[in-house]
Amino acid sequence: MKVVLVTGGAGYIGSHTVLQLLLAGFKVVVVDNLNNSSEVAMHRVRELAGEFGSNLSVNMVDLRDRAALEEIFASTQFDAVIHFAGLKAVGESVQKPLLYYNNNLIGTITLLEVMAAHGCKKLVFSSSATVYGWPKQVPCTEESPLSALNPYGRTKLSIEEMCRDIYQADSEWKMILLRYFNLVGAHPSGYIGEDPHGIPNNLMPYVQQVAVGRRAALTVFGNDYNTVDGTGVRDYIHIIDLADGHVAALRKLDDPNIGCEVYNLGTGKGTSVLEMVKAFEKVSGKKIPLVMAGRRPGDAEIVYASTEKAERELNWKAKYSIEDMCRDLWNWASKNPYGYQSQDSTKQS
Ligand code: NAD
Ligand code: WQD
Repeated sequence: MKVVLVTGGAGYIGSHTVLQLLLAGFKVVVVDNLNNSSEVAMHRVRELAGEFGSNLSVNMVDLRDRAALEEIFASTQFDAVIHFAGLKAVGESVQKPLLYYNNNLIGTITLLEVMAAHGCKKLVFSSSATVYGWPKQVPCTEESPLSALNPYGRTKLSIEEMCRDIYQADSEWKMILLRYFNLVGAHPSGYIGEDPHGIPNNLMPYVQQVAVGRRAALTVFGNDYNTVDGTGVRDYIHIIDLADGHVAALRKLDDPNIGCEVYNLGTGKGTSVLEMVKAFEKVSGKKIPLVMAGRRPGDAEIVYASTEKAERELNWKAKYSIEDMCRDLWNWASKNPYGYQSQDSTKQS
């Protein structure tokens, strides 16, 4: 049985991916400091995994704690690492750049050093479509020009460059950098999902909180873009499709020809803010009040992925539609209007 270390495994993408890994027969060890997540998610993943649940172990450890990480690597021989752990709020990264550079870069450097010291040189890393900046051309292909518009984006771009340098210096490494587009939804059981701390930064978590009455209205950032209805266009992908993309990437790491490769994980389709809101209203039966506002600084007009490379080389393709994403998001939200909080008294709204 293959053993995978998953950093940030208690988070939104991490918890869904850990579940898919367990169901696919992997043994999973999670490292997470629970900075933006809840232990409840891990209990629920264990339950959802049924007979495979006992193949999950969780360590509440900060990646920058080298001694603790060393201990984990000394006790288990990992076949590969999936590295999700990081801070991800664009606005916060502008306010607190050092926090982001410290957490994301030092965390990753510590991880890669400990991996190398223990002879584990297979990595899947969470990059982001944010590295395409404001794309001059869509769809974004893996060869499109890269730029970062904020400290968060610069941490992703720096880690990508770091991985390419490490591979250049030592071809024993096998690295897959996955550039995620806009994730939406939850596991169809409604038992695990996204539970952001504080005011959500992203569109659909905000819509979800309006629908359950936690926020009054959605502010639409810009309705004068050159798009179908004037609002921004993005490539929304179901969280389960994204999680399955990681299982496909892990399998690809066994390909003897793989070095350091980048793949987009998206659907290849663009959807506007108003189209997303309409789809959510339809499946939930909830009206989402809107307040039209100016453009959000740094926002691109249209971003969507070319998915050809991932389809061809990872043998993976997103299956779920916008309606599926909204339905599963609403299922999670209506069953857990305050996220994991009702079972986790340590967390603030
Ligand atoms: P998340 O905040 O839900 O999960 C990240 C997890 O990492 C959290 O559980 C957090 O507690 C943990 N963590 C953070 N710093 C840590 C540290 N120093 N040591 C140990 N654990 C730490 O976020 P997510 O949405 O699941 O994102 C996972 C990864 O994917 C991140 O790297 C993020 O930048 C990237 N990403 C996310 C999106 C998105 O839209 N959600 C898009 C592109 C890329
Ligand atoms: C989507 C659309 C907004 C909120 C961000 C990060 C990116 C990646 C994914 C991690 C845009 C509009 C949003 C709201 C709105 N994360 N919007 N009202 O900006 O594409 O990407 O998350 O890597 O790095 O930048 O996603 O969900 O914030 O916005 O009108 O309250 O919704 O203007 O057009 P974005 P988003």
